[in-house]
Amino acid sequence: MNAPIGVIDSGVGGLTVVKEMLHYLPNETIYYIGDTARCPYGPRTGEQVLAFTSQMADKLASMNIKMLVIACNTATAVALEPLQKACAFPVIGVINAGATAAIKETKTHEIAVIATAGTIKSGAYEEAISSLFSKSNIYSLACPPLVPMVESGQYEGPFAQALVDKSLAPLKDVTFDTMILGCTHYPIIQGLIENAVGKDVHVVSSATETAKKAKAILDYYHLENKEETVAEHRFFATGSVPMFQTVLENWLQLPYARAEKIEL
Ligand code: DGL
Repeated sequence: MNAPIGVIDSGVGGLTVVKEMLHYLPNETIYYIGDTARCPYGPRTGEQVLAFTSQMADKLASMNIKMLVIACNTATAVALEPLQKACAFPVIGVINAGATAAIKETKTHEIAVIATAGTIKSGAYEEAISSLFSKSNIYSLACPPLVPMVESGQYEGPFAQALVDKSLAPLKDVTFDTMILGCTHYPIIQGLIENAVGKDVHVVSSATETAKKAKAILDYYHLENKEETVAEHRFFATGSVPMFQTVLENWLQLPYARAEKIEL
């Protein structure tokens, strides 16, 4: 079926999931919305996150998407089930994928999760990890400054490293062999996070498992694009287009991709 797949996030973070989707689903067209005008979602109430996420889903539904990927952990935690009930197309999130990635990697079942305040408060990662292996020890940490740092375009250099080090300091005396990047913005600063936790820790994100899940769902519902078409991806931002464009170019390296402004 030659219809786009919708992907949503509060900002640029979901592009880390798009990157893997381009790899696993090269024949599919992606329509992406980053709600940069209202980012970060992490400190917002569940009601607000649900309302904003539903607006993005409605906008993409009006563009006739065939599937929706909620490429935001904070939004997945509150909106996955309501949107799965409300939408006429399949909807997937990123939290189970992140938990699966960690369980595949860990040897000790000592797992750290870093995420936004909203995701940590929801307990969604504890639930998802425990449902895969109930004896896991999970250490959760909210890192509120990191999403605004990435969205402001500072994701390299000594200032960014110092903020990452400070944010992860509460985990200094905790032993774990695997860390989940429980926010889709964090793979953009994965190098800084790896510097902070050391080389013995496996740092995993939900991106690859989410892309594989998206492929499996398309296959299950016979929704894959089987036509010989050239994908015409579109990338929309509710806020500043230039900043979004910079991350789009740096991260996805799609020379023709142009960020567009959108109203929800
Ligand atoms: N990328 C979002 C996530 O995965 C960031 C949330 C935010 O805007 O705070 O949680």
